[in-house]
Amino acid sequence: MNSTSSTGPTSSTGSTGPLRIAVVGAGGIGGYFGGRLALAGHDVAFVARGAHLEALRRDGLAVKSVAGDFTVPSARATDDTAEIGEVDYVLLCVKTWQLAAVIDALPPLLGTGTAVVTLQNGVEAPAEVARAIGRDAVLPGTAKIIAHLDGPGRVRHLGGPGLLAFAEWDNRPTGRVARLQAALDAADGVTAVVSEDIWAELWAKFLFVVPPGGLGAVTDVPFGLLRTRPGTRQLLVAAMTEIRQVAQAMDVELPDDVVPTSMAFLDQQPAAGTTSLHRDLVAGLPSELEALTGAVVRIGERTGTATPVNSVLYEVLRLREEASRSTS
Ligand SMILES: NC(=O)c1ccc[n+]([C@@H]2O[C@H](COP(=O)([O-])OP(=O)(O)OC[C@H]3O[C@@H](n4cnc5c(N)ncnc54)[C@H](OP(=O)(O)O)[C@@H]3O)[C@@H](O)[C@H]2O)c1
Repeated sequence: MNSTSSTGPTSSTGSTGPLRIAVVGAGGIGGYFGGRLALAGHDVAFVARGAHLEALRRDGLAVKSVAGDFTVPSARATDDTAEIGEVDYVLLCVKTWQLAAVIDALPPLLGTGTAVVTLQNGVEAPAEVARAIGRDAVLPGTAKIIAHLDGPGRVRHLGGPGLLAFAEWDNRPTGRVARLQAALDAADGVTAVVSEDIWAELWAKFLFVVPPGGLGAVTDVPFGLLRTRPGTRQLLVAAMTEIRQVAQAMDVELPDDVVPTSMAFLDQQPAAGTTSLHRDLVAGLPSELEALTGAVVRIGERTGTATPVNSVLYEVLRLREEASRSTS
């Protein structure tokens, strides 16, 4: 067990033996990063369910990756966290709407100093987890990758840097953060960044993903068209600007040029690209709408910040989501 508490001594080297890691949710990001850590020799246990769990147990994990295909033939997988016991790190890799159920299953994994890394898109997952297990146990984080489950036991990594950024809640350097960074950096196909300001990192990603997600879902067109037509481009800029103002109201300092920088980054993405929010909503699947566009509106209301563009997108999409739920 990792005996260094979140308030414990700081290691600048992050030197480490094999780490005990539970990956809760073995889909796109859990399968990829957990698989890479297992391949690097860490003691990784996957929490999965259904046909995916059966395939992991029977055949192991197979990852097709732009950074090199690999398999973890004897992946340890279970649907019961009590079978895993205490670990050094938990990578929380479920979708935002699935968090509540897995939070309830966390206690058997937690010992003194266990760090639970939240990797959901959005800005609210760390607080949701911290309400249950305390802030000291949470490392807010974010994943930069494009990966998805490609059938039971199979993960597909299509692109993105394969990067995890994380930090302690208050950004202070600790041994457990340094050890996780060292373990990830030593794994093939992974980059780890310890953020100087993890909240700014989370909000910058939020600002980048939410507007193309919401507007993409409403219009059902990909990035190429959204960013080219003057009208939709203006809406993207307006929606990003609202998120910047909400961040400011939350005392999160984003760079002055965060909106043009995010638009420039969007301009570099494949023209046919879409977000998972867009794809899930259009397919009538459960989506992260509440944690993304919904959160902008909610936090905007709480802080007295106007979010007219995001509010329209949210109301239209909420209606659509409710309609598809009632017909499914
Ligand atoms: N994928 C990406 O490229 C990417 C990039 C950056 C950020 N993110 C963020 O990362 C988070 C995870 O996304 P993802 O794409 O990796 O999701 P995903 O592919 O749907 O993976 C989530 C996995 O967790 C499983 N799961 C959920 N609840 C469970 C439970 N109670 N017990 C066992 N397994 C459970 C799901 O199983 P079921 O299918 O049975 O529900 C699924 O296999 C999201 O917040 C997303 O926005 C994703």
